[in-house]
Amino acid sequence: MEDAKILVTGANGQIGTVLTKALKATYGDTHVIATDIRPATQGMWKTHILDVTQRSALEEVVHREKVGYIFHLAALLSATAEQKPQQAWEVNMSGWTNVLEVAHAQGVRRVFFPSSIAVFGPHTHRQLAPQFGPLTPTTIYGVTKVAGELLGQYYWHKYGLDVRSLRYPGIVGYQSLPGGGTTDYAIDIFYKALQGQPYTCFLNPDTRLPMMYMDDAIRATIELMKAPVSKIRVRIGYNIAAMSFTPAQLAEAIRTYIPDLQVTYRPDFRQEIAASWPEQIDDTHARNDWEWQSHFDLDAMTQDMITHLKDNAMALSQSQQ
Ligand SMILES: NC(=O)c1ccc[n+]([C@@H]2O[C@H](COP(=O)([O-])OP(=O)(O)OC[C@H]3O[C@@H](n4cnc5c(N)ncnc54)[C@H](O)[C@@H]3O)[C@@H](O)[C@H]2O)c1
Repeated sequence: MEDAKILVTGANGQIGTVLTKALKATYGDTHVIATDIRPATQGMWKTHILDVTQRSALEEVVHREKVGYIFHLAALLSATAEQKPQQAWEVNMSGWTNVLEVAHAQGVRRVFFPSSIAVFGPHTHRQLAPQFGPLTPTTIYGVTKVAGELLGQYYWHKYGLDVRSLRYPGIVGYQSLPGGGTTDYAIDIFYKALQGQPYTCFLNPDTRLPMMYMDDAIRATIELMKAPVSKIRVRIGYNIAAMSFTPAQLAEAIRTYIPDLQVTYRPDFRQEIAASWPEQIDDTHARNDWEWQSHFDLDAMTQDMITHLKDNAMALSQSQQ
């Protein structure tokens, strides 16, 4: 990706913050254009303010900067989308259509679309969701992700636009805060645990979902986008897996380090969303096609989260002294 500039939409979100940092570290600060509708926290980088629903603004920056690669992260996430379904359709679908149209018209080389385990629904095999199977989501978020995957595949077949996609599980990381998803509990709980406070979980204790540590998710994204075109044999979202756990299992893993952690369970509307998703997904195609492999399981993730969040808290308290 050194041969042309990289543009990231939604660069200041949970995943965008970490992905943009990694891309800038590899390809150089000015080679990677961070765009979002809000500025970066703590002035991490200069953000080009860009609303993806405004096609002409997107067109202008892609043309001016001769962008060759787009990572399109801007979206409303599952829980937020369920509360604002029309806006979710507008941002997730019009935004994506604009990216595809501009990319096709401007000769962009490669485009990344982040899909989700939310593409699955009640007709999917809950114990192990296959790569190719029924996609009947019951959430508006899932509907936009299924339509988004198919639209990307359509641009590949019709125009040869090199669109690549991953179905992310719930992503857990210490580097950024989550943005309105159904698996956000798995980050919130670490903050409460480290503050010595009890945590009230919005999912039931036995809600088992596919999850992934941020480091694995970023590596998967970059590896997919760097893979030779001949290796990409799936043009809808690739299933990628790392681990599956329940809130109760995560709480138990955290108690290895913070034995006093108290968790109560008060499921809200997000429980219904979670219940429509599979417990585990089969990522054989990603493993076979471009050698995907996860590195973090529940114990490794928990240890790394605690170490980094403790360091961050220490750095923060020292900077305030
Ligand atoms: N975080 C997860 O667990 C997860 C799981 C599966 C899929 N995904 C997908 O990955 C992508 C990134 O997710 P995230 O967790 O970083 O989300 P996030 O909500 O943290 O970040 C999304 C960013 O998009 C920006 N945005 C919203 N509307 C916009 C618009 N109209 N124009 C431009 N920017 C806009 C927001 O300001 C925000 O910074 C999304 O497409 C999401 O659906 C995330």
